Amino acid sequence: MQRLNTCLYLILGFVAPCFCDTSFVGTNNTFFNVIDYGAKGDGKSDDTQAFVTAWQHACGTQGASTLVIPPKTVFLVRNLRLEGPCNATSILIQLQGEIVAPAKNEWINGLTIDEESNLILISKVNSLTVDGNGGLIDGYGSTWWACKRCTRPMILKFLSCNDLSVSNLMIINSPKAHIHVNFCDGAILSNINISAPGDSPNTDGIDISSSKNIIVEDSTFETGDDCIAITGNSSYINATRIACGPGHGISIGSLGRNNANDRVEEVHVRNCTFTNTKNGARIKTWIGGSGYARKIYFEQIILSQAKNPIIINQYYSDYVTNGGLEVSDVTYRGFQGTSLNDKAITLNCSSSGCFNIVLDQINIVSSEPGATAYCTIYNARGTATSTVPNCSLST
Ligand SMILES: *[C@@H]1O[C@H](CO)[C@@H](O)[C@H](O)[C@H]1NC(C)=O
Ligand SMILES: *[C@@H]1O[C@H](CO)[C@@H](O)[C@H](O)[C@H]1NC(C)=O
Ligand SMILES: *[C@@H]1O[C@H](CO)[C@@H](O)[C@H](O)[C@H]1NC(C)=O
Ligand SMILES: *[C@@H]1O[C@H](CO)[C@@H](O)[C@H](O)[C@H]1NC(C)=O
Ligand SMILES: *[C@@H]1O[C@H](CO)[C@@H](O)[C@H](O)[C@H]1NC(C)=O
Ligand SMILES: *[C@@H]1O[C@H](CO)[C@@H](O)[C@H](O)[C@H]1NC(C)=O
Ligand SMILES: *[C@@H]1O[C@H](CO)[C@@H](O)[C@H](O)[C@H]1NC(C)=O
Ligand SMILES: *[C@@H]1O[C@H](CO)[C@@H](O)[C@H](O)[C@H]1NC(C)=O
Repeated sequence: MQRLNTCLYLILGFVAPCFCDTSFVGTNNTFFNVIDYGAKGDGKSDDTQAFVTAWQHACGTQGASTLVIPPKTVFLVRNLRLEGPCNATSILIQLQGEIVAPAKNEWINGLTIDEESNLILISKVNSLTVDGNGGLIDGYGSTWWACKRCTRPMILKFLSCNDLSVSNLMIINSPKAHIHVNFCDGAILSNINISAPGDSPNTDGIDISSSKNIIVEDSTFETGDDCIAITGNSSYINATRIACGPGHGISIGSLGRNNANDRVEEVHVRNCTFTNTKNGARIKTWIGGSGYARKIYFEQIILSQAKNPIIINQYYSDYVTNGGLEVSDVTYRGFQGTSLNDKAITLNCSSSGCFNIVLDQINIVSSEPGATAYCTIYNARGTATSTVPNCSLST
């Protein structure tokens, strides 16, 4: 019992590193508290190096390890890179305190910000759990948004991390996208709340690219751009019980930009709400790309004043060349609620067409009193059953 108490004490993160004898549970778990590596946690000092050193220990240890970011503290970091591969068989990042980004000018100071810049980049770490219980990451985006043409950094990027779990995390005000999941296989992201103003530029909630077997669930996204964007070479992506809005909806794409060969398949968006969003269920592709978006399912969707609740746009640019991505096997089933546009359903496919589009059990009405919602279709083939507004698809 004494030993158990000691361990509980250590688990709470007051003392670290903890070379806790956990032989009674059969595995080692070693704790590394950033404070013990010199982090100040005063919200002003740059704690990046302390985080990196604590991480190197957590990563290099044998068995399981925990990086503790303790509560009631504010850590300022900049371009923090937590890199693997690690010796540790599993790592838990316990984010109980707050992490803040510097303001734009302090961030840029001495650094080049490019498309790959992030507040925090975690790469090549397998079996990682990030638990944000009580914690917060603040991107201080207001110092960047005024400069719409600036290259802006993202907050949290996971690159090549397999068997990832991220939960109970609040992220606010990213300069650009909040979370990016890239080249990951196997991830569960749950109870993640993201918030940025509806007019903040490019502040996507979660971007998923070149990844598979990803679950995003039980989360709330209030953003200035896509709540979730699923792009090039991603498959087996489930988004369930997501509250989106404001924001640009849940998007497949854009795909095929600069003639890219992008493939997306097996996406299940289920039991989500779109409230005051610019789009709801969206697929957007550029003319000229190759690849496909197929086996996409949007089901059990509640709409409240969403513009473009259902939209396929294969003309995401006016830049016209030959070819195009194929959009096929897309199901919209169980949509209910109101559309801010009278044009509630838009299936705008390129001349090569979209195939096997299924509309079923859809009931969308205009949010304007007296106005009637309608559907426009170009080159889309498939079926519509129990669908209001009436859509006539050719089979
Ligand atoms: C893993 O452990 C080995 C042997 O102790 C050590 O040499 C190496 O630096 C460790 N790797 C990391 C990433 O710390
Ligand atoms: C636990 O740590 C001890 C001492 O560092 C080491 O010998 C042992 O291999 C570790 N056990 C596991 C399961 O990693
Ligand atoms: C996210 O928001 C929901 C609904 O407001 C709330 O129940 C939940 O505790 C929040 N989670 C976090 C991590 O902030
Ligand atoms: C997707 O994969 C294809 C084929 O491997 C490759 O040509 C293309 O560049 C990839 N696209 C992205 C966005 O990674
Ligand atoms: C994703 O959703 C589909 C449809 O609900 C389900 O069949 C599949 O098992 C889900 N995948 C995961 C990994 O949960
Ligand atoms: C759908 O979401 C609602 C509200 O979040 C929840 O009560 C219900 O159980 C969910 N159903 C499924 C199938 O996820
Ligand atoms: C479809 O896209 C074309 C090309 O951008 C555009 O001219 C047309 O207005 C669009 N139709 C709808 C219904 O959005
Ligand atoms: C739906 O539209 C089709 C084609 O315009 C028409 O034949 C059909 O009667 C309409 N159905 C309803 C319920 O309005």
